[in-house]
Amino acid sequence: MNENTLSNIKNNKADKHFLIYTWGCQMNEEDSEKLSGMLQTIGYNKTEDKEKADIIIFNTCCVRENAELKVYGNLGMLKGLKEKNPELVIAVCGCMMQQDGMGQAILKRYPFVDIIFGTHNAHKFPEYLNRVKQEGRSILEIWDKEEGIVEGIPIDRKSDMKAFVTIMYGCNNFCTYCIVPYVRGRERSRDVKDILEEIKSLVSKGYKEITLLGQNVNSYGKDLNPKISFAKLLKEVNGIEGVERIRFMTSHPKDLTDEVIDVIASCNKICNHIHLPVQSGSSRILKKMNRHYDREYYLNLVKKIKTKIPNVALTTDIIVGFPGETEEDFNDTLTLVKEVEYDSCFTFIYSKRKGTPADEMLDQIDDKIKHERFNRLIDTVNCICAKKNKEYVGKNVEVLVEGISKNDESKVSGRTTTGKLVNFIGDEYLIGHLVNVKITKSQSFSLTGKQI
Ligand code: SAH
Ligand code: SF4
Ligand code: F3S
Repeated sequence: MNENTLSNIKNNKADKHFLIYTWGCQMNEEDSEKLSGMLQTIGYNKTEDKEKADIIIFNTCCVRENAELKVYGNLGMLKGLKEKNPELVIAVCGCMMQQDGMGQAILKRYPFVDIIFGTHNAHKFPEYLNRVKQEGRSILEIWDKEEGIVEGIPIDRKSDMKAFVTIMYGCNNFCTYCIVPYVRGRERSRDVKDILEEIKSLVSKGYKEITLLGQNVNSYGKDLNPKISFAKLLKEVNGIEGVERIRFMTSHPKDLTDEVIDVIASCNKICNHIHLPVQSGSSRILKKMNRHYDREYYLNLVKKIKTKIPNVALTTDIIVGFPGETEEDFNDTLTLVKEVEYDSCFTFIYSKRKGTPADEMLDQIDDKIKHERFNRLIDTVNCICAKKNKEYVGKNVEVLVEGISKNDESKVSGRTTTGKLVNFIGDEYLIGHLVNVKITKSQSFSLTGKQI
């Protein structure tokens, strides 16, 4: 896509505004940044005020049932806005729309919605916007398959210091609980050249931290010709002058190679942090989840990482209450969490997703048991994370300052290479700089320090 494609649609909309609500992961965040970029290119302005908006977009997520419930809850509120302002254009897009029959169901239940589109045709939004105005009726267009990658879409990034750069789209793993492969399509890697150019351009605009994104970054490049490994890409990015920090997510444990671990250990700009979702500590459940590794493999991998990358921070995702999970399986998760000593964990209660194999499994777990296990897991996780944070007290760390502290205007806040949030007394001019800080206090989810 180039600016000319969009400028054909451009006309005078200086006083027209849009508002995008985004649910879900960084993939959706990035899509919203692109929608925002396209709308600004065709002359619209951003607003935070829904009463002022001429276009409202809901970018939806369906990874768990509660993500969908939030969307339904919020769609109701739009009815009143549309009644007040019949010119308002309401669009709904994102992963939830990629599910069979969902677009039709939304239109039936919320007939005031003007445009519905999916994850594969988001770049067409400006066209749909024009059409809906000309035709005066709702548009429902969802592509059920991914096409090639569309490069060159303008991106309006949320931060002017940290940027997410998608290196690959889609997922081939089909974990039995997960809907992502069905709504995001198969793995497609972006060309190395496009990725490096984007990062160079970000650096020239003052960006300091780059996070490489994909559902499983470790399989980056397998579909390219010639093939290139994720480790090679990391090295290339590390070589770009002006990049201060490099992060990446997510790493599927089954594909995390020694080569990647060695590159993280040897490249100075790659952060000492790996997000390594384990999902369960029970080999039996991991097999049912189709994760392609067992407890022993995972623990060995962790051992290897900790040996090669001293002071590395490990974070993870865990699901409790997967079909067939026994008390013994759940205990395996608790003991694994204690053994690995994660720096932080994202914990989820298993949620049935239509169309996934786990949804059909007959041994679903009772809600009460799921919640009870979830609470026990949280207690264990919190205890370990607080202990990990305590280890920082008295240490000197390097913090990339991101902004004024949320709770105290005399402080600034930023993150360590290991991803820890640090607050310390300091001025605004530190924003965007790497600052040495001595940690004086630890809380459950953040650290306090003093500039040295
Ligand atoms: N590609 C990434 C993350 C995908 S979604 C990965 O493989 O790690 C983020 C997290 O949501 C997953 O890691 C998993 O822990 C959780 N999740 C996915 N489907 C779920 C479901 N049906 N119920 C509960 N949690 C789920
Ligand atoms: Fe879902 Fe598994 Fe793919 Fe992650 S790797 S997006 S959990 S199917
Ligand atoms: Fe949700 Fe789609 Fe991400 S389902 S978690 S927004 S890929």
